[in-house]
Amino acid sequence: MAHVDEPSGTRRDFLYVATGAAGAIATGAAVWPLINQMNPSADVQALASIQVDISGVETGSQLTIKFLGKPVFIRRRTAEEIEAGRAVEISELVDPTAENENLTPDAPATDQNRTLDEAGEWLIMTGVCTHLGCVPIGEAGDFGGWFCPCHGSHYDTAGRIRKGPAPRNLHIPVMRRVSDTVVELG
Ligand code: FES
Repeated sequence: MAHVDEPSGTRRDFLYVATGAAGAIATGAAVWPLINQMNPSADVQALASIQVDISGVETGSQLTIKFLGKPVFIRRRTAEEIEAGRAVEISELVDPTAENENLTPDAPATDQNRTLDEAGEWLIMTGVCTHLGCVPIGEAGDFGGWFCPCHGSHYDTAGRIRKGPAPRNLHIPVMRRVSDTVVELG
């Protein structure tokens, strides 16, 4: 499996990227020329935020974008995935904290504390395994979420680590919803 700077190699991941490309390109066209014109220094780039059009992401699919050098998974969860995530007790979790930068550091890792919206449809996470940094595969593993084949870490449908060597839930970056169809990261 590839590390974060390399494209991941499964057919399914390729299809996710291809499916989401229209949204990502539309956003990139709007955002990056402006930043390029300004020719910011490296530390300004590190603070940059981007807006992503999520309107093209179908239920049960995932858009993967690259932000600040790392993949970010934008998954529109099915009702079954939401139900599975909400059925889990905190006591069952390896990492009981939400790992969500939009909440306090001690916020519990409930399904609701992991998602962007109250209904739990949108799950947006940094796509980097918390063990040694590989990119996990979606819709895989023992818990129907993500699986990191590098050393066998299994994440559930809320991106929480459930089995394997990874110590923490997949990280949730700073974000806010700009509109029904646009999310701002950073
Ligand atoms: S990097 Fe993911 S399990 Fe080791």
